[in-house]
Amino acid sequence: MRFWGLASACVAALAGSTAAAGTTTYHDPETGFVFAEYAIQYKIGHTLVFRIAVPTGVQSLTAYDAVLQVVAPVDAGWVGFAWGGRMIGDPLAVGWSSGNSVVLSSRRASDHTNMPATWTGAQYTLLKTGTHVNYTHWQYTAKCTGCTYYTNSVGSKNWIYSTGTNHLAFAYSSSRPAQPSSSGSTIQIHDVTNNWDHDFSVGQNANFADLVTRNS
Ligand code: HEM
Ligand SMILES: *[C@@H]1O[C@H](CO)[C@@H](O)[C@H](O)[C@H]1NC(C)=O
Repeated sequence: MRFWGLASACVAALAGSTAAAGTTTYHDPETGFVFAEYAIQYKIGHTLVFRIAVPTGVQSLTAYDAVLQVVAPVDAGWVGFAWGGRMIGDPLAVGWSSGNSVVLSSRRASDHTNMPATWTGAQYTLLKTGTHVNYTHWQYTAKCTGCTYYTNSVGSKNWIYSTGTNHLAFAYSSSRPAQPSSSGSTIQIHDVTNNWDHDFSVGQNANFADLVTRNS
């Protein structure tokens, strides 16, 4: 266990500069998914893009797989995505680049003091198509099982609306993980966090399962 002391002082220092545009539809030419896209600044002129694709016809309060696509500029050491809109208790997807590949780590936090531990309650499968690293960005596309209807760390059930608006959050760190090739790597605290409302209704995919298979 590491103690992070007052390192939180800089958290969200830049939150005030974030542009709050709404969710848009993105037809991904590479994978064929229709994504609900939200782009959010983490510093002036630097944007993270979060895209969600879901299957159509999901029954309320049932688990369903979702596809998460994240596009990050190469200055991002790691980028976290919080399905429950906050750090503590809900599934976190933490991604970073490692050479020409991208590593995605399932984590969960029980407090603001310790690094979020790896969590097996959610499983991510990186899709080959839609996951790449180039000179300017790294990007991943991953199916998550266990991210949409889960028991949180205080024992309550939480469901992510497949056709409605969910309150989400991200965390950005300029520091790279200590062992980038390992999904269990130690990471340092974020430099910026923020929240937004993400409308999943524009990321509906009737052929969701086929698209997962085709891009795997
Ligand atoms: C070493 C790892 C980490 C440490 C030490 C850490 C610590 C903290 C601290 C001290 C705060 C501020 C709490 C406050 O303002 O009262 C915070 C907020 C936050 N963190 Fe982390 N964090 C870590 C990793 C992560 C990761 C991987 C995510 C993934 C998304 C994340 C997401 C957030 C979010 C969204 C907030 C805003 C407030 C909240 O939702 O709780 N953090 N964190
Ligand atoms: C690099 O990757 C980003 C994110 O996927 C993409 O938008 C951009 O077009 C790519 N650049 C090149 C030169 O392929």
